[in-house]
Amino acid sequence: MMKGNLKIHNATIVTPLGREAAQGAAMSELSIVKDGLIIITGGIISYAGPASEAPATRPDEHYIEYDAKGCVALPGFVDSHTHLVFGGFRPDEFQWRLKGESYMSIMERGGGIQSTVNATREASEEELYRKAMWFIDRMSEMGVTTVEAKSGYGLDLDTELKMLDVIARLASDQDCKADVVATFLGAHAVPKEFAGRTSEYIDYIITEVLPKIKDKARFCDVFCERNVFEIEDSRRLLQAAEEMGLKLKLHADEIVQLGGGELAAELKAVSADHLLHVSDEGIRKMADNGVVATLLPLTAFALKEPYAPARKFIDGGAAVALATDLNPGSCFSGSIPLTIALACIYMDMTVEEVITALTLNGAAALGMADRIGSLEGGKRGDVAILATDNYNVLPYYVGMNCVKTTVRGGCIVAELK
Ligand code: NIG
Ligand code: FE
Repeated sequence: MMKGNLKIHNATIVTPLGREAAQGAAMSELSIVKDGLIIITGGIISYAGPASEAPATRPDEHYIEYDAKGCVALPGFVDSHTHLVFGGFRPDEFQWRLKGESYMSIMERGGGIQSTVNATREASEEELYRKAMWFIDRMSEMGVTTVEAKSGYGLDLDTELKMLDVIARLASDQDCKADVVATFLGAHAVPKEFAGRTSEYIDYIITEVLPKIKDKARFCDVFCERNVFEIEDSRRLLQAAEEMGLKLKLHADEIVQLGGGELAAELKAVSADHLLHVSDEGIRKMADNGVVATLLPLTAFALKEPYAPARKFIDGGAAVALATDLNPGSCFSGSIPLTIALACIYMDMTVEEVITALTLNGAAALGMADRIGSLEGGKRGDVAILATDNYNVLPYYVGMNCVKTTVRGGCIVAELK
C-alpha cells in the first residue's frame, strides 16, 4: 500500500461516515465541513475535519502540503464490480446488438463471453497485465482508488489461474494507482468443453479449481441467470466456495427474474449485482439480510435495458452501491462520470445517495467499509478532489470528468493539468 504523508488544506470535506454500509435513508446523510483539513499520516487519515480544530503534527514528520482552494474532497471512489482483465475486444458484437440481436442470443451461438474466453486463453500474462493497468490509470483519473477485478474469462484451471495471477500482480504493484481486489468468477459461462453439461462443469470448479484458487481471491461470484447457471447450480457452487473461505457475490436477475436476489439473501452474500429484474421479495430479503445491491447503470444503458430499481432498494431500507461493470461485452465503459449521471437522471438517486453508493457502500460491497469509503480518522488516505466547491457538479457534468486530483494512501496519483 502507498504510505504518504499529506495535508489537504482548504477542502470542503463531503463524506458519508461509518464503518459499515449505509442502508436506506442513511445513504443521504453526508458530513459536510467547509474550511476543512485532511491530515494523512503514513497513508492513513489521522484527522479530517475543521482546520480550526486540527491537532498539531509532529515537527519531525514531513508532510506534502496541498491547497484544495475550497474544492470538494470526497472519499476515493470504489468501483466494486469490474471485469478489467480480458483478452481481445468485441466491437462487432456491439454492432449486432445495435441491429437487434440480444446479448443472450449472441452468447448462445458461441459469441459473447466465450469469444473473450478464446482471446484470454491465447493472451500472455504480460498483455493482460498491461491492458488492465491502462484501464486502472484511466479510472484513477476519475477518482477511483479501489477497484474489484474478476476472473471468469478462462473457464479452465490454467487460464483462471493466469487471470488471478495478473490481478495479484496488479494488487502488489507499487505503481498501480488503485487497490485491486480479486474475485473468482469461474462460473461466468459454461465453456465449450462442457457444453450441455452445466452441472458437471460446476463439479469441476468445486473439485478441481476452487481448492487451487481459494487463496488467490477474496470473493466467489457466479453469473446466476436462466440458461447459464440457474439457482440450484449457483447455490451449490457458492456454498462450496464459502466452505473454502471465500465471500460471496452474484450476478443476479440481470436478464430475467430468476430469484437471484432471494438466493443472495439466503446465502448472506456480501453483494448481489445488476438486479435489473429483481422481485419485490428479493429486494425485501436483501434489505433484511444486509446484502449490498450493487447497481450497474452503464450496463443497462449499453444493453438498452431498463435500469435497476434503485429507489425501491433505498426506500425499502437496502444499501445500494454503484459500480461500472467495465467489461469487453455488455459494457465497455469504466466511466464514473457517466455512471453518476445515469444514476441521477434515470434511477432517481440523489447526488448524496450517489456519493455514498460510490464510496462507503462500494467499500461495503468489498467487505472493506472498516478501512476505506469515508474520510475519517483511521481509514486509508484515499481522496478524490473535485475541480469545484459544489458537489452538485457530479451529475451535471454528464459523462465529463470533474475530478481534479486523486490521492491514494496519502500519495497524489493523478492530477489534472
Ligand atoms: O456483468 N453478465 C455477465 N457478465 C458480464 C458481461 C461479461 C461479458 O459480456 O463479457 C456482466 O454484464
Ligand atoms: Fe459483471
